[in-house]
Amino acid sequence: TTLGASAAERGGRYFGAAVAANKLSDNVYTTILNREFNSVTPENEMKIDATEPNQNQFNYTNADRIVQHARSRGMAVRGHTLAWHSQQPGWMQNMSGTALRNAMLNHVTQVATHYRGQIHSWDVVNEAFADGSSGARRDSNLQRTGNDWIEAAFRAARAADPNAKLCYNDYNTDDWTHAKTQAVYRMVQDFKQRGVPIDCVGLQSHLNNQSPYPSNYRTTLSSFAALGVDVQITELDIENANATWYRNVVNDCLAVSRCTGITVWGIRDSDSWRASQNPLLFDGNGNKKAAYDAVLQAL
Ligand code: XIL
Repeated sequence: TTLGASAAERGGRYFGAAVAANKLSDNVYTTILNREFNSVTPENEMKIDATEPNQNQFNYTNADRIVQHARSRGMAVRGHTLAWHSQQPGWMQNMSGTALRNAMLNHVTQVATHYRGQIHSWDVVNEAFADGSSGARRDSNLQRTGNDWIEAAFRAARAADPNAKLCYNDYNTDDWTHAKTQAVYRMVQDFKQRGVPIDCVGLQSHLNNQSPYPSNYRTTLSSFAALGVDVQITELDIENANATWYRNVVNDCLAVSRCTGITVWGIRDSDSWRASQNPLLFDGNGNKKAAYDAVLQAL
């Protein structure tokens, strides 16, 4: 069996991978992708600098290639990401105030409209909270347009693609006691109370072996789920691909019925943004690693 097929048998979950358009011509890569995964996330191709390189000039070429590859094979697509402080095109980096707010909302509307009906879940807003113990929002040009920029982005996304699940996505939100996790939790709670459209929380889960496995990870997942949102593990990779940690992540997700899917952030170690840490399920030659066996066994 395969990762995707096993996940599907576990309550209709998905098991996905981040995919790069320029690797779709690599046979080893696409063989693994097509065999193992039933969801894809474009690694960079839907980011703001890729889809709107010049203001109001949209380029969907590379993102469309991934969407076409996935949908023609029955895979789901996670959209990543509509509003983010990073990987902004130069024109947006230099904007502020009302002009930036309107440009951001136009971007959300245009891109979500282009992919209307084709996206399983959108990471509407990515990484809006600060690291450390403050629990504050991250300072960024978007945050400086006003604290309501996140809910404005979610409302625009809902209007453009009413059937996509709308997610808030962040990293270092695995440990339930971490101030950043608590801050995201309070925002989601507030959104649910006030009727701001939000359907899911993405935990990137770029896990670092130097700290212990977050023993309260399952508590984090179930606490968000109890707010009435799905949880998705959206960018999983683990330093040195510790097989026990991979198994723990799968078991923790399976223990929470609203944990609906897991995405690993790349296919082979050589495809990873953390390649030197060999953090993925397949080695550079495309061979299954011990972590792969651990994940498949747990699923
Ligand atoms: C990373 C990509 O993997 C790299 O190719 C790119 O150079 C930088 O971005 N959090 C996210 C992802 O939400 O978009 C990031 O992806 C990794 C961290």
